[in-house]
Amino acid sequence: MKFFIDTASLSQIKEAQDLGVLDGVTTNPSLMAKEGISGEERVIQHYIDICNIATGDVSAEVISTDYAGIIREGEKLAALHPNIVVKVPMIRDGVKAIKYFTHKGIKTNCTLVFSAGQALLCAKAGATYVSPFIGRLDDVSTDGVALIAQIRRIYDNYGYETQILAASIRHPMHIVQCAEVGADVATCPLSAIVALFDHPLTTIGLEKFLADHKKAAQQTAKA
Ligand code: E4P
Repeated sequence: MKFFIDTASLSQIKEAQDLGVLDGVTTNPSLMAKEGISGEERVIQHYIDICNIATGDVSAEVISTDYAGIIREGEKLAALHPNIVVKVPMIRDGVKAIKYFTHKGIKTNCTLVFSAGQALLCAKAGATYVSPFIGRLDDVSTDGVALIAQIRRIYDNYGYETQILAASIRHPMHIVQCAEVGADVATCPLSAIVALFDHPLTTIGLEKFLADHKKAAQQTAKA
């Protein structure tokens, strides 16, 4: 399963890239706003900066909600860097635009997906990625990971090549559960990725190994 980081923070992207396990980046307008990035020129420059730090696909989301606007914006974003993936909302004009981008060889990520039916539409339009938001489903008492498993079964039934990009991940167990049910990608906050490193028995075990090594070295020095 690929690991993407879900942020527009350049320092967090750098940190995740340095971990050696990062495969890409997703952003959205809220994450860009959180970093204080606004205005077309700054937004464009920020996407270029992200592409220069991270290896792998970088999702850049369109703001337009009409077909012509999505196409115009998407083509501009796609021209910025070969790693740019045009992120398009799950609306009628969005799906139609995904079909257009697919024919043009432009990679797409269909965002704000909350049902298997929506995921089926993404696959039929030829989206590169479909982004089901599992945390937001959990927030409304609906099993987000179960949706990932359902989409996996549907895509496997027909050999759809759209990659399932589990989004709105809140914690490390979401990542493990997504891997278990066959998500192709998990896009995660940095905190969820680094939490995967931790286990108290690893910490205790390493302390003991190092203490034993030090003791043996001291005994050798004395002898
Ligand atoms: C997906 O690409 C979105 O950027 C993101 O995962 C949404 O997550 P949230 O529900 O934590 O805002």
